[in-house]
Amino acid sequence: GRGGAAPDELAGRHVVVSAGGTREPLDPVRFLGNRSSGKQGYALARAAVARGAKVTLVSANSALPDPAGADVVRVGTAVQLREAMLKAAADADAVVMAAAVADFRPAVYASGKIKKRDGQEPEPIVLVRNPDILAELSADRARLGQVVVGFAAETDDVLANGRAKLARKGCDLLVVNEVGERKTFGTEENEAVVLGADGSETPIPYGPKEALAETVWDLISRVLDQSTN
Ligand code: CTP
Ligand code: CA
Repeated sequence: GRGGAAPDELAGRHVVVSAGGTREPLDPVRFLGNRSSGKQGYALARAAVARGAKVTLVSANSALPDPAGADVVRVGTAVQLREAMLKAAADADAVVMAAAVADFRPAVYASGKIKKRDGQEPEPIVLVRNPDILAELSADRARLGQVVVGFAAETDDVLANGRAKLARKGCDLLVVNEVGERKTFGTEENEAVVLGADGSETPIPYGPKEALAETVWDLISRVLDQSTN
């Protein structure tokens, strides 16, 4: 962490952060979801407010309180998250996708509650792909002159998977976490490495999500200053 962040470092900048996890409804009472709490995205939003940015936080199903000074847009599904992100990103200087986006959604939404019937096996749930929001934002980043950042939780060969994902998405920076049963989801602490499209590698030691947020904004500010000053 940097302790006292320069309060004006992001002054005049609009930044957009997504947080939480999408929920993909099956019927009015059930959904497919994930364990993301929103803590990392909210920490990023609070840190950007502290640096003087205009902050839009697009929040998917997080129970956390709205960060003071940020515009909060609440969404449920990946399709809603995409719409909110593309709209908010239109005039943004930096976009950070910290939300956990469901890769798939049920192909069919049942408008009435799904019921079981005696002696009948359940119907299989058919899934379809959700849009890749980060890839879409990254495709626009040169035209819009903005910095686009993704997050990835990986197991096994974490760095190689992260490098491949950074290239596939086309973003400027990818924050890569190693996940396990007790790591990352809902915890206060995080450990990561930030991979840059320029080949850079910035390790972030195990520590609070606030410290990771500060390092991410340090790296984003560096790219912004290079491209516009
Ligand atoms: N992401 C996104 N839209 C999706 C899926 C993911 O914008 N439909 C974003 C996430 O918010 C995150 C980054 O992409 O910032 C990486 O997410 P991840 O799930 O690791 O990437 P995937 O391409 O879905 O790869 P995987 O098959 O490993 O899940
Ligand atoms: Ca995924």
